[in-house]
Amino acid sequence: MKLYCVGCGPGDPELVTVKAANTIMAAEVVFAPTAREGKPSIALSVVERYVDKSAKTFSLVFPMVKDKESLKDYWRKNAQEIADAVRTGKRVVYLTVGDPALYSTWIYIHRELQNSHKDIEVEIIPGIASMFAIAARAKVSLAEGEETLAIVPACYDIERVRKASEACDTVIFLKDGRYFDRTIETLGLSGFPKNAPIAIAQDVSEEKEILEVKTLSEYLGKKGPAEKYFSIMVAKKNIRE
Ligand SMILES: C[S@@+](CC[C@H](N)C(=O)[O-])C[C@H]1O[C@@H](n2cnc3c(N)ncnc32)[C@H](O)[C@@H]1O
Repeated sequence: MKLYCVGCGPGDPELVTVKAANTIMAAEVVFAPTAREGKPSIALSVVERYVDKSAKTFSLVFPMVKDKESLKDYWRKNAQEIADAVRTGKRVVYLTVGDPALYSTWIYIHRELQNSHKDIEVEIIPGIASMFAIAARAKVSLAEGEETLAIVPACYDIERVRKASEACDTVIFLKDGRYFDRTIETLGLSGFPKNAPIAIAQDVSEEKEILEVKTLSEYLGKKGPAEKYFSIMVAKKNIRE
């Protein structure tokens, strides 16, 4: 009785690993997360071509709400549904965008299984994380030599942005791109030089990708290209020739 958690990569179906594709192709039941009822799952849309026609697919809702108790109810219910499917003896996979170890709904399912469904074995198949996709598309290195790297999941807490930006050489910002303009202003006050390179992407590696690489001063006071949750920004403090 085993559940496979599959990292589906950043969005380009060709950036799915061979192991992930093989596991999805062999699956009889596929679970995929979504933020609300009726909204298509991004993870499923990335790997749809690998899902066998006879496989059953189910969306599991992970709402974007802050109320911990309500969230826990969803995690419990979703884990129960997955566990029930695994116990039927079918080959079951759980899909997640990018890599399962980075800000993924997977951790909530995994913890529930560890606590309440100890009979279910788990195998995790890593995926290409969005930060590596933007690095490749923007042709920037995230860190070299002695450089340090920070990942900031949401930029509305400007104090956390400031601390990470002062402490590290490269900062990766995930989640809502609508906060990036304000974040760039903070970078300017936290030791990032005016010519610091900044890469911003929305839907990186997908057909609808928006990608821009400019300097901090080119962005300051202007509206950046990212307009939605599915955005990522990489800011580099050190300029190397
Ligand atoms: C819940 S986190 C999941 C991160 C994912 N596990 C990973 O490895 O990249 C969702 C955030 O990841 C980033 N992300 C994931 N895929 C992306 C893509 N194709 N383009 C831009 N940002 C992406 C965005 O910041 C988005 O808000």
